Amino acid sequence: MDFFNVTILPDSVQIKVPADFTLKQVFNENGINFEFPCGGLGVCKRCKVTIIRSDGQVQEALACQYRVKEDVTVKLPHKEAKHAILSEGIERHVAVDTLVKKVYFELPHPTLSDNRDDWKRVIEQQGIKTSLKVLQDLPEKLRESDFKVTAVIEADRVISIESRDTTHKLLGMAFDIGTTTIAGYLVDLKSGKDLCRVSTLNPQTRFGADVISRISYASESAEGLDKLHGAVINEINNLIQEAAKQANHSPLDVYAITFAGNTTMHHLLLKIPPKYLARAPYVPVVTAPVVVDAAEINIRINPEGKVFAFPNIAGFVGGDTVAAALAAELDKADKLKLLIDIGTNGEIVLGSKGKYLACSTAAGPAFEGVQISCGMRGASGAIDHVSIGEEYEYTVIGNTSPRGIAGSGLVDAVAELFKAGIVDEKGRLLKAEEIKDPIGKQYKDKITSINGITAFVIAEGSSGPVYINQKDIREFQLAKGAIAAGIEVLLKEYGAETKDIDEVFLAGAFGNYLRPESACDVGLIPKELKDRIKGIGNAAGAGAKLALISQKEYERAVALSREIKYIELSAHPDFNSIFLNKVGF
Ligand code: FES
Repeated sequence: MDFFNVTILPDSVQIKVPADFTLKQVFNENGINFEFPCGGLGVCKRCKVTIIRSDGQVQEALACQYRVKEDVTVKLPHKEAKHAILSEGIERHVAVDTLVKKVYFELPHPTLSDNRDDWKRVIEQQGIKTSLKVLQDLPEKLRESDFKVTAVIEADRVISIESRDTTHKLLGMAFDIGTTTIAGYLVDLKSGKDLCRVSTLNPQTRFGADVISRISYASESAEGLDKLHGAVINEINNLIQEAAKQANHSPLDVYAITFAGNTTMHHLLLKIPPKYLARAPYVPVVTAPVVVDAAEINIRINPEGKVFAFPNIAGFVGGDTVAAALAAELDKADKLKLLIDIGTNGEIVLGSKGKYLACSTAAGPAFEGVQISCGMRGASGAIDHVSIGEEYEYTVIGNTSPRGIAGSGLVDAVAELFKAGIVDEKGRLLKAEEIKDPIGKQYKDKITSINGITAFVIAEGSSGPVYINQKDIREFQLAKGAIAAGIEVLLKEYGAETKDIDEVFLAGAFGNYLRPESACDVGLIPKELKDRIKGIGNAAGAGAKLALISQKEYERAVALSREIKYIELSAHPDFNSIFLNKVGF
């Protein structure tokens, strides 16, 4: 293959590129920020650059169309690329290059000497697709609007032609569809700016709290699938309406939706039967990215709007994990990174550039407050931190009277009870008279029996004591044991050791509140990683937003989903013994 030198001015960057590469490929692959408003279809004519050929000839060319066939110098016009700042947990700057774009044209009227057909007048470039409907509406639309029209473009297809300049009406929504909650972010696709965030409980909860019960409900009858699908679509439509209203827009101004969810949420949203996800060997119907017309699944946005579903990895590691891996930029890492996303399930990814392993553990519910006597989500009234030493302290989200205990409070409480000698190495909550540790002894009055089970009262709330009991500690041990064992199995399969892990990303609301010391004290995360833990918030939502703002980020997510290899823990020969080892403290 021939290679040529491309020198890019004004920065005099020199790049060796294979013959026939377009300048768009050269810029994209070398991280040169340059806007391609129509995505490189050759229709907007706004990617003009000046080419200085080796013989000194100077010409203007479209960077998306120009192919390198000799050594050239390319002069970029002086303009600032638009950037969006992502503040959802991780700060990232990305060039705005959205999945759906708009281009405004003021076209010359046809005359006897310029009698090109209507379509060619709008789109000169060959090979650009459109629908029959666009062509059917085109003649009147052009003439009604004095040949001033806006083309709405998705990939290599014009999905709609609108009268006049509508480029200011171009919104998108990114959704993180969790088993328990749904969060949506409304984004102005012209600027890449966040407009607002909306969230609600996933209404499918009334058909089952976890993915397994929902899969069985959907599999019992066609009606079951209809109901689960209808419930989530209805709530998404409500959220779109609410967000559009908050931002003084109409849902019709929304043209693109990205969504990231676990594989079950993905299937239910697209009304794909999830039945075989729950039966060994747990095969999804599709893991590749799916793009559908919003109208096809009754999502009420612009009638030509598109829905982009994040690709999945396996039956129990879905698009939300891919989105979190994208937000954490695992694909850029030279050193080994560990990503732990604790939601209703716990997904773990271990890897660095090009090689990743993932697994899923049914570990999340305890950390989300499910199956814990006084457990609750990290909302107002939840105890999120506990400290038991010479001083006894706890903090409550919203500074109100405590109502329950959040996942991070639970981790803290168990870690502190263990350190104070109130819980032993096997996880037994000692009776007051059994405590030997002088610190623990100071708090023996907090140990009591509630409903016949030994309990430690953390605080007196307005509607009764907030406590953790022996059963809660056992639940906690199973959950943390599963995550810790998942990490160890991945390390083993990767052929790496704990010390090789450079950074640990904790995704999910839980990860943001969790105290690294406590997570390590209870053995949820290996102790030697204590100083390498970073909470990254709702990384799945952040990833969904990145893909919405930038086509390149969407493509990165697709590439990541193909590279992450899934390990089925239940089939791993060492999982059970490692798990049993990790249950104690
Ligand atoms: S990006 Fe090149 S013509 Fe639109």
